[in-house]
Amino acid sequence: MKVTVVGAGAVGASCAEYIAIKNFASEVVLVDIKEGFAEGKAMDLMQTASLNGFDTKIVGTTGDYSKTAGSDICVITSGIARKPGMSRDELLGINAGIVKAVSSSLIEHSPNTIIIVVSNPMDTMTYLVHKTTGLPKNRIIGMGGALDSARFKYRLAEALEAPISDVDGMVIGGHSDKGMVPLTRLATRNSVPVSEFLSEDRLEQVKEDTKVGGATLTGLLGTSAWYAPGAAVSGLVQAIACDQKKIYPCSALVEGEYGLSDLCIGVPVVLGRNGIEKIVEINLSEAEKAALVSSAEAVKNNNTSLEF
Ligand code: NAI
Repeated sequence: MKVTVVGAGAVGASCAEYIAIKNFASEVVLVDIKEGFAEGKAMDLMQTASLNGFDTKIVGTTGDYSKTAGSDICVITSGIARKPGMSRDELLGINAGIVKAVSSSLIEHSPNTIIIVVSNPMDTMTYLVHKTTGLPKNRIIGMGGALDSARFKYRLAEALEAPISDVDGMVIGGHSDKGMVPLTRLATRNSVPVSEFLSEDRLEQVKEDTKVGGATLTGLLGTSAWYAPGAAVSGLVQAIACDQKKIYPCSALVEGEYGLSDLCIGVPVVLGRNGIEKIVEINLSEAEKAALVSSAEAVKNNNTSLEF
C-alpha cells in the first residue's frame, strides 16, 4: 500500500506520522513545493521509526511526482491555512489553483488512485477535483466530518464528564463554522441518548463549541490545528487501505441523496478498498434537514467562484 501526501506542512506531516505509526502502509511519499522541506520531514520521521516501531518507508520530494507513481491513495493538504480571524472560505482563490495543479500531477502518475482532499475550503476543493479530474465519484473523498465529529465527541465528553470512548456522535454538512450540522439528537453515551444527561442549553453550547472548534484552535495556535486533522486523515486512509468498511462523515458528491445534488458535502459514507462504497442516508429531523439544506446552499455559493 503506497500513500502520497502532498503538502509536508503541519497537517501533511502529522498525517504521514500517524499513518506510519499505525504501520499498515509500505510507503508514504511526502511532496512539497518548498525546496528540501519534504525531504527533511521524511528524514526526521524515518529517524522515529526505530523508536516508534514502524516499518513504513517515508520518502520526501520537492515536486518530483515520478516518486509518487503507483500510489493507491493520495492526500492533498497543499495550500495555505487560515490565520486567526480568517474563515476557511477566504482561502478559496489561492488553494483552488494549487489543488487543481496538484491533482492533475497526481493522476498523471497514479491513474488508479483514490484522492483525499484536505485543503480548505475543503467541500469546494473536493468538488473542484471532481470537475477537473473526471475520476469516478467513489475515488474522491473530502476530509472534514471525521475531524468535526472528533471535536464534537471531545466537547460531548467534556460536558458529560465521561470518557471519550463512551461517547458517540457525528457531524454532517459543510466543513465550515456555520455549515456544520452536529447531530446532537443522535449522539449517545453508552447507547443512551445524551439528552438524558444534558439540558437543551448545554447541548446547544456543545454544538456551538464544536462548530467553532477549528477557529478556537486557530486563535490559540496562531495557525490552524494539525494533530486532530492528521489523525482524522490517517483514519480515512486506514479504512480504505485495510478495507475496513467503516462509516465516517466525508465530503462526497451527492446525486439526490438527502435531496441534494451537484455538490460535495459531508454525509456519512462507508469507506473501504473502493473508496466511498456507499452513502448512508439516515433519517433526519425537519430541523436537521433544514440545517443541511442551508449548509449546502453556502457550499454551492462558494462553488460558483470556481473556474474550471
Ligand atoms: P501548512 O502551511 O503548514 O502546509 C501547507 C504546505 O503546502 C506547505 O508546506 C507548502 O509549502 C505546501 N504547498 C503549497 N503549495 C504547494 C504545491 N503547489 N505543491 C506542493 N506543496 C505545496 O498548512 P497546514 O496547516 O498543513 O494546512 C494545509 C491545508 O489544510 C490548509 O488549506 C488548511 O486550511 C487545510 N486544513 C483542512 C482541514 C480539514 O479538516 N479539511 C483541517 C486542517 C487544515
